[in-house]
Amino acid sequence: MKTLTLASLCVLVFFSDSVASGALDLLQDTAASWTGRLPCGGWDCECAFKGQQGCCCAAKPLFDLEEFTFMRMVGLWDGLSRLNSQINEVTAGCKIAFTANILPMTGCLGPFTSNVSISYQSVSLNQGNGYNPALGIFTAPHSGLYSFSFTAYSRVGDTDRLYQKMQLVKNGQVIASSWEDNREDSEDSSSQTVLLKVQRGSQVYVELLSGRQLCGDTQGSNAFSGYLIYPFTEE
Ligand SMILES: *[C@@H]1O[C@H](CO)[C@@H](O)[C@H](O)[C@H]1NC(C)=O
Repeated sequence: MKTLTLASLCVLVFFSDSVASGALDLLQDTAASWTGRLPCGGWDCECAFKGQQGCCCAAKPLFDLEEFTFMRMVGLWDGLSRLNSQINEVTAGCKIAFTANILPMTGCLGPFTSNVSISYQSVSLNQGNGYNPALGIFTAPHSGLYSFSFTAYSRVGDTDRLYQKMQLVKNGQVIASSWEDNREDSEDSSSQTVLLKVQRGSQVYVELLSGRQLCGDTQGSNAFSGYLIYPFTEE
């Protein structure tokens, strides 16, 4: 019986109506023990030939398709969420800019026995809250390329000597400085601007070097400012 062809199966089915259920059982058993290739396509042969009826035979391909579609949607949703947070980083999350000046003074700041960060306490802009006026330290809320500037100004009486030196520092590393040490001028001003790659949490500040002093800045002309030019995408 194992060599029965599909055509003869049909003939058997046709005649089995009157032969009753014994022949049907035989047909079913024959199909179930079939060892050759059956023309099932992607369908479930087990199901088709072991008595179950109708659409259940396509259940597995349908389930697979549903599973595949679901996983694709999960993947797409993930991708969309990631894109959304990246857009947020590039726009709203990244407005970072500050400008601060020292409070006007008639006397001098310094000299100190060590390098001290200057606290520019008059803050006119602090978007993103990266700048701490009490310490004079900017802590980057986001990694990116930043621009930093500072202006050094000092004025002394005729008999005194201008003796200032300031440096822009990132995490303890000197980036740029400005200084004056002479007996001819009694007033001097200079500015520095640098572009810096900064990681989130890095600290940038301006130091007055030990032994030096800033004097007579009655206008609060000493300034420190910075802003994010563009962010780096963080993983
Ligand atoms: C202060 O800064 C100068 C110039 O960068 C450096 O040579 C010196 O070591 C610093 N002093 C301290 C105590 O860090």
